[in-house]
Amino acid sequence: MYVQNANTPVRKPVTVPGLRAMKAEGRQIVMLTAYDSSFAWQLETAGIDVALVGDSLGMVVQGHRSTLPVTLDHMVYHTAAVARGLSATLLVADLPFMSDRDVPHALEAGARLVGEAGAAMVKIEGAAPHVLDAIKALVERAIPVCAHLGLTPQSVHKFGGFRIQGREQEAAERVLKEALAVEAAGADLLVLEGVPAALGERVTQAVSIPVIGIGAGPHCDGQVLVLHDMLGVTPGKRPKFSKDFLVGRDSVAAAIKAYADDVRSGAFPAPEHCF
Ligand code: KIV
Repeated sequence: MYVQNANTPVRKPVTVPGLRAMKAEGRQIVMLTAYDSSFAWQLETAGIDVALVGDSLGMVVQGHRSTLPVTLDHMVYHTAAVARGLSATLLVADLPFMSDRDVPHALEAGARLVGEAGAAMVKIEGAAPHVLDAIKALVERAIPVCAHLGLTPQSVHKFGGFRIQGREQEAAERVLKEALAVEAAGADLLVLEGVPAALGERVTQAVSIPVIGIGAGPHCDGQVLVLHDMLGVTPGKRPKFSKDFLVGRDSVAAAIKAYADDVRSGAFPAPEHCF
């Protein structure tokens, strides 16, 4: 069991305005998912900037084929566990499928994830009108929002699978328009998933909020990966955009540290991780 003691690393807490400052200063933001307290502590000690309790937990923890079965209660449980393992790392939690169906539900979810579980920010997928309304309502109530565009996993059935988005000109323009719309609605951060690197670069230049890529190329303001993918423990084939950082290293701590170093130096993502 972990007990905070004199060896606990002391870092300046990462804040929401601090993320914007990192973009302005050209410092890469390192984000990684976590689902429990022990791994959260690994992120904390490796100096990860942002921990994401993703609804990917439905796939890598619960064993489902998609993120859709994850409930708000699941998210609150895992977010509270992760919060207990963090001190300086900023904590973001996903709004699960359909918890954004209208403003009252989105506010209820935001209140539970931030007030009860300890997140500093909530993440919401897409840019449909009801999502923009939810972003505005959350931000007005001082709940910072991370938007999520491109390959949004909660739309898996609409996309016909986990498919790269924004390849055609028209689709790319749509993603760009959505990015401007979520920024205008008040989002403070944007996760951009599964799009060509050229589109990742355009979006990152078009918005003033930090853009965190996952399969969106090297020109974003930071990167995020699913913890189980980058430790090589997810069953099946690893996504092209991910990398097993445990290969050639002898501990989880070393793998997470290598990921952070490679994002900060620009070594990750390499061309073979991009579309
Ligand atoms: O749920 C999740 O882990 C995510 C990341 C893939 C960004 O949304």
